[in-house]
Amino acid sequence: MSIAIEQPLPDIASYKSLENEQLSDRIERVREAMGAELLILGHHYQQDEVIDHSDLRGDSYQLSQMAAENTDCKYIVFCGVHFMAETADILANRPEVLDQRGYRVSVTLPDMSAGCSMADMAGIEQVENCWADLDEIVDTHDITPVTYINSAASLKAFVGKHNGIVCTSSNAPAVLEWAFKRTSRVLFFPDQHLGRNTSLKMGITNDQMPVWDPYQLEMGGNTDAAIERSKVILWKGHCSVHQMFQAEHVEMFRKKHPGINVMVHPECPREVNDIADVSGSTGKIIEVIKNAEAGSKWAIGTELHLVNRLKKENPHLDIHFLSPVVCMCATMYRIDLAHLCWSLENLANGTQVNTIRVDDETAEWSLVALERMLSVK
Ligand code: 13P
Ligand code: SF4
Repeated sequence: MSIAIEQPLPDIASYKSLENEQLSDRIERVREAMGAELLILGHHYQQDEVIDHSDLRGDSYQLSQMAAENTDCKYIVFCGVHFMAETADILANRPEVLDQRGYRVSVTLPDMSAGCSMADMAGIEQVENCWADLDEIVDTHDITPVTYINSAASLKAFVGKHNGIVCTSSNAPAVLEWAFKRTSRVLFFPDQHLGRNTSLKMGITNDQMPVWDPYQLEMGGNTDAAIERSKVILWKGHCSVHQMFQAEHVEMFRKKHPGINVMVHPECPREVNDIADVSGSTGKIIEVIKNAEAGSKWAIGTELHLVNRLKKENPHLDIHFLSPVVCMCATMYRIDLAHLCWSLENLANGTQVNTIRVDDETAEWSLVALERMLSVK
């Protein structure tokens, strides 16, 4: 790779004072110099300025597939959040491709503070304590633990070890079906809304879905009878972005724009999902909009950057954001051009910064759960 970069490289603070145009030019210079060795992945919730520089973009499921399928690159720079970069590290460096390729793919998260508040709502010790408590009441061999991909690698490893599986918002129904072929109960974490909305569609009733609060000392705040009756035990976690959408927003849009179609992400609360016309993952939302009839009206309840991009890319549709308040993923937003440029110039310079590396044992067990996820369509 041949690229002349200022030596020594300045720290991130000085990148922040640069104009976007200048940062964009410098990012493109690195991309050109590194060629196929470098793969920039971008989640659909990223801001446009960042998405413009990504080689591939997708939702959580698609990005996992991309990381698993790519066998050429040496470096992945992940414009998403921490758990996504961990997943990319595990999938891109699974033993069979590592042996074939002979080197590790390094994964960079341009800003280490780009976490996910939902993923942080379930810690490994809390989940282990929950499992031990449940074992006092019901047989845990008859429970499949299911973790949403929005979780730390340690939780994915936990489900891998306990015959469980990872799900994303796009395959959650198929994953629950997979689980119920094996056991009569499921422990679903960390997002109660995705777990509840998906289970309700399968005919599981609210009284069969107790909510496990990790901060309650006794049985997650449940009676023994509630646990005995349960089909799906829901972890008390949520996405702070999607939780903002309310049923009254749906009513307000329907009143103001008769004939409008309401489409929401399954991380939104049940009250919103129940009355929406369409509920679907990020991938499904994009697909539905792609195929929408010209002139049709849509109110979409998901992350702001994605809705604004859909609006811009589909001027033949009348698209609205389903909330009077701003609901954007503040942690994803931390990945900006300054951090992207800083991490790329460091890579080009031979100094890797913000490397995401999951330890071998955690990676091994997480992979078990992730491969199950990828096998379930
Ligand atoms: P998907 O990309 O699976 O739709 O998930 C949405 C999300 O909240 C990502 O963090
Ligand atoms: Fe996490 Fe919600 Fe942001 Fe997705 S949108 S990364 S679930 S906080």
